[in-house]
Amino acid sequence: MTPDVPGLAAAALRPLWRWLGVVVLVSVFRVLPSAAQVIENPHGTAVGDCAACHLPNAWRPARIGKEFRHAERSFPLEGAHAQTTCAACHPSLNFSSAPTQCVACHQDVHRGELGITCARCHTTRSFLDQARLVQRHEQTRFPLRGVHISVACESCHPTTQPGQAQYLGRSTLCVACHRTEYSSTTTPNHATVGFATDCAGCHGSAAVSWQGAVFNHSATRLPLTGAHLALACPACHRNNVFRGTPSACVACHQADYSGTTNPSHTAAAFPTTCESCHATASWAGASFNHDGPYFPIYSGTHRNRWTACSDCHLSSASYGAFSCTVGCHPKASTDSHHQGRSGYQYVSSACYSCHPRGSAG
Ligand code: HEC
Ligand code: HEC
Ligand code: HEC
Ligand code: HEC
Ligand code: HEC
Ligand code: HEC
Ligand code: HEC
Ligand code: HEC
Ligand code: HEC
Ligand code: HEC
Ligand code: HEC
Ligand code: HEC
Repeated sequence: MTPDVPGLAAAALRPLWRWLGVVVLVSVFRVLPSAAQVIENPHGTAVGDCAACHLPNAWRPARIGKEFRHAERSFPLEGAHAQTTCAACHPSLNFSSAPTQCVACHQDVHRGELGITCARCHTTRSFLDQARLVQRHEQTRFPLRGVHISVACESCHPTTQPGQAQYLGRSTLCVACHRTEYSSTTTPNHATVGFATDCAGCHGSAAVSWQGAVFNHSATRLPLTGAHLALACPACHRNNVFRGTPSACVACHQADYSGTTNPSHTAAAFPTTCESCHATASWAGASFNHDGPYFPIYSGTHRNRWTACSDCHLSSASYGAFSCTVGCHPKASTDSHHQGRSGYQYVSSACYSCHPRGSAG
């Protein structure tokens, strides 16, 4: 074999070497003064200064100084590799020919299933080092959260054959692993009430606990708003009955309706479609279209001139009856307004027929 020039790009310089051979050999002898005969560099190209690893008087044993930085950019010796002998990776003294890919030196126990980029999941510390594996899990479609973080890998990656855990093709659907829990639920019995098997829809994907389920009502007939938002589920779903929960306001609020006094809804013969006058935040502040069909009290001359419905509707037993005269329009002053007005009577129904909108004109 042709001796190579240490530290030079050998292929390009070989012809030149033949011409300059003697000169270069002399320089090698200067580095190693005690070497009496012509020494071939057994290490291949780019090995660097011989003195970095050899004492002046003998080639063996080599003394590798602290300043030696192993293939710094392509293959630093880290983890277990720092404890490994040179010869384990460089079976010949030709250092330039070692492969850098993990799979070239390590048996792929996964039989190619997880790809050849072993460093995605492993470090040189140990193949059983789980830190990188847990980190790696973050990049799957199923990052580990909540209780899942502390669950043993084997619970989700059972072993099919000795030493062969199942990593590929695991379903990320909750029900794939939790069907048994679904089937054995009692409060409520999910199958009986017909809950979907999309657990995350009600239990979230935090995987902390099965308690504290939430359900998005926005697509139901009773989207939860106002006072309903703060309620615990059983306030509406008594005894864990979910299916068939009525959504009409009166179904849950009949007692509230019957108990009203100001105004008495029964007497007013208000419809039981509460939502036409009430929002869910509070019963107060109802929007009641009194002005249009009956008589302007929220607008016009009577706006802010009354305090309770009973100012006009003396009996909460009948809203068909009303009074203009009691407490509001005294006889003396009213009569004087209408002097000579033909058809005038000091009677409420007469006032209403000449003043249906509560105004003079
Ligand atoms: C990075 C360290 C390093 C450098 C630099 C280095 N060597 Fe070595 N060399 C070694 C090691 C390791 C051995 C094996 C020593 C042992 O087995 O104890 C070795 C062995 C040798 C041997 C003995 C071979 C045998 O078969 O016994 C020769 C000759 C040799 N080196 C020549 C050189 C020359 C010439 C240079 C400079 C061009 C050089 N070495 C640079 C590490 C190095
Ligand atoms: C775990 C395996 C491994 C061990 C142990 C190892 N090497 Fe290497 N070495 C490599 C690989 C891989 C390369 C090739 C890097 C490249 O091609 O970029 C390499 C390259 C080299 C090179 C060429 C450096 C360069 O910059 O191209 C030298 C010199 C070398 N090793 C010396 C040593 C010596 C001396 C030891 C013992 C102290 C040693 N190696 C231990 C794997 C190893
Ligand atoms: C040039 C060959 C070579 C390359 C490339 C190489 N190794 Fe190594 N590695 C070894 C040798 C040799 C040992 C020590 C002998 C053994 O334990 O297998 C070792 C040991 C290890 C160990 C400790 C052994 C154990 O079972 O825990 C781990 C981990 C490791 N290597 C990971 C890697 C990873 C990851 C890569 C790629 C980034 C890699 N190796 C690339 C040769 C290599
Ligand atoms: C997608 C992640 C992933 C990739 C990529 C991967 N592995 Fe693994 N490897 C694992 C897991 C998970 C284990 C099991 C760790 C455990 O049991 O704690 C493992 C275990 C190992 C073991 C130890 C087996 C044992 O039981 O002692 C070796 C060796 C190994 N892998 C080599 C490789 C090699 C070589 C490559 C590249 C060809 C590779 N792995 C690629 C995930 C991966
Ligand atoms: C609670 C269940 C669960 C636990 C615990 C779990 N995994 Fe996974 N793992 C999964 C699911 C589901 C997937 C599939 C993700 C995907 O396809 O994107 C997966 C995928 C993987 C993959 C394949 C990654 C890839 O790149 O294809 C590896 C490797 C893996 N897990 C290793 C582990 C290791 C190691 C542990 C223990 C530290 C662990 N898993 C714990 C459920 C789990
Ligand atoms: C690949 C299998 C797997 C998948 C997919 C999976 N889990 Fe788990 N989960 C487990 C295992 C194993 C446990 C621990 C054993 C147990 O308690 O059932 C667990 C535990 C839990 C726990 C804690 C139970 C307890 O009693 O403390 C909750 C909550 C949970 N998972 C919810 C979910 C939800 C929600 C999803 C979907 C987003 C999901 N899991 C997807 C395997 C899985
Ligand atoms: C439509 C909403 C909904 C869906 C979908 C749903 N759950 Fe539930 N789950 C609940 C409610 C509500 C509770 C009662 C606990 C609470 O109020 O927090 C509950 C309680 C549980 C409980 C504890 C009660 C018991 O009897 O053991 C488990 C376990 C459970 N669910 C598992 C699951 C699993 C597994 C899935 C998916 C396969 C699932 N759930 C899907 C709403 C749901
Ligand atoms: C203010 C009353 C109210 C509260 C509070 C309430 N719900 Fe509901 N929920 C309803 C009504 C009404 C329906 C039926 C809507 C429909 O039929 O479209 C319903 C429907 C459901 C359904 C669907 C039942 C089916 O038929 O499949 C689930 C599941 C559910 N609620 C879960 C919950 C959970 C879990 C909570 C507590 C976090 C909760 N609800 C709190 C009133 C309520
Ligand atoms: C499935 C039963 C249910 C239905 C349907 C329902 N509610 Fe409720 N609602 C409740 C419960 C339970 C409360 C809290 C206890 C209470 O104050 O009566 C509540 C509270 C309220 C409150 C707050 C009362 C207060 O004292 O502050 C208002 C306002 C209200 N609901 C309006 C409505 C309206 C309007 C509808 C129809 C759109 C409706 N609710 C439908 C169960 C229901
Ligand atoms: C035609 C309109 C209208 C309808 C329909 C209506 N309300 Fe009212 N409600 C009112 C008005 C106006 C008030 C007084 C508002 C105020 O004080 O701000 C009121 C007040 C109330 C009050 C508080 C007053 C009291 O005496 O306790 C309750 C409770 C109430 N409504 C329940 C209901 C229920 C339940 C329904 C449906 C079953 C219903 N309402 C339907 C107009 C209506
Ligand atoms: C300023 C006087 C006045 C006040 C205040 C007033 N109303 Fe009236 N209301 C009338 C008049 C006038 C009519 C029309 C009577 C008719 O059409 O026979 C009427 C009609 C009604 C009717 C229709 C009765 C029917 O049988 O057709 C209802 C219900 C009613 N009022 C409820 C209320 C409620 C509830 C309040 C308090 C929020 C209220 N009113 C406050 C004057 C008043
Ligand atoms: C026959 C029809 C008629 C009857 C009945 C009647 N009014 Fe009048 N009222 C009028 C007319 C027309 C005017 C306008 C006089 C004017 O512009 O000079 C008027 C004026 C008024 C005014 C004064 C308005 C202003 O701006 O000065 C009041 C207040 C009034 N009426 C209240 C009543 C009351 C209360 C009753 C029942 C006790 C009543 N009216 C009955 C026709 C009537």
